[in-house]
Amino acid sequence: MKSHTAPDFSETVIGVEHVSVRYLIPRERVGSLKEYAIRKIQRRIFNDEFWALKDVSFEIKRGEIFGVIGANGAGKSTLLKLMARIMRPSAGRVWVKGRVAPLLAMGAGFHPELSGRENVFLNGTLLGYSEKQIRERFDCIVEFAELQDFIDAPIRTYSSGMLARLGFAVATDQKPDILIVDEALAVGDTAFQQKSLNRIREFQQTGTTTLYVSHALGEVEKTCKRAAWLHHGKLMFIGDAQEAVDRYLNRKPVAK
Ligand SMILES: Nc1ncnc2c1ncn2[C@@H]1O[C@H](COP(=O)(O)OP(=O)(O)OP(=O)(O)O)[C@@H](O)[C@H]1O
Ligand SMILES: [Mg+2]
Repeated sequence: MKSHTAPDFSETVIGVEHVSVRYLIPRERVGSLKEYAIRKIQRRIFNDEFWALKDVSFEIKRGEIFGVIGANGAGKSTLLKLMARIMRPSAGRVWVKGRVAPLLAMGAGFHPELSGRENVFLNGTLLGYSEKQIRERFDCIVEFAELQDFIDAPIRTYSSGMLARLGFAVATDQKPDILIVDEALAVGDTAFQQKSLNRIREFQQTGTTTLYVSHALGEVEKTCKRAAWLHHGKLMFIGDAQEAVDRYLNRKPVAK
């Protein structure tokens, strides 16, 4: 029996509970694996620790387009990687309901020497599609990316905007439950950005939740209802997107 129930927009689909992330930064360069192994046995590996996220908690409901803003190094990409299950928190818990399509740093999941065509298959497989599914959807993906003329060239010859187009087109060809967009649209031209945001809004109507990291604060205000502002790994504000942007901007030192 097929169910046609409308998406439940009141359901929480992402939970971030007291999450902290610690990165270990090696204090000295170790030249080879052999040297590393010897030093490890001798307990002579020294790391500095850096907390990229500090006790962050919030929840996101189904169908939200949720913005994440903050200065370079604030912890935004780290937060998204947790939700994409690319890494685990050092403390706390992150849970996510449904299929996640992560669109992380530009070109992630692409191989520079392979052609656009081959990369669609590679990237699609990483996203969990079968080869048959990708073959069936291939033309639509390339058409959305508007890369018909370049699809057989190696992607090291692509511009950053072309890479972003291909990445977005593959990741959003099938409607995910949760779409993660980390700055991926920033390098696309205005027409492509609008086309992508329209697709995100269409998905929203049918219950897809989108996490949208961007330095384009105007777009965040326009597209997101709620947003989080991160500052040095701490959650400074979560709530109305316009207020988040205002608060973020006003905390910046006054230009001299
Ligand atoms: N693998 C890593 N090892 C050590 N430190 C890291 C690692 N990845 C990130 N960091 C540090 O964690 C902090 C947060 O990085 P993150 O990439 O989450 O920032 P961001 O908010 O996405 O910044 P941007 O706006 O520049 O993309 C930075 O200070 C960065 O140097
Ligand atoms: Mg980032």
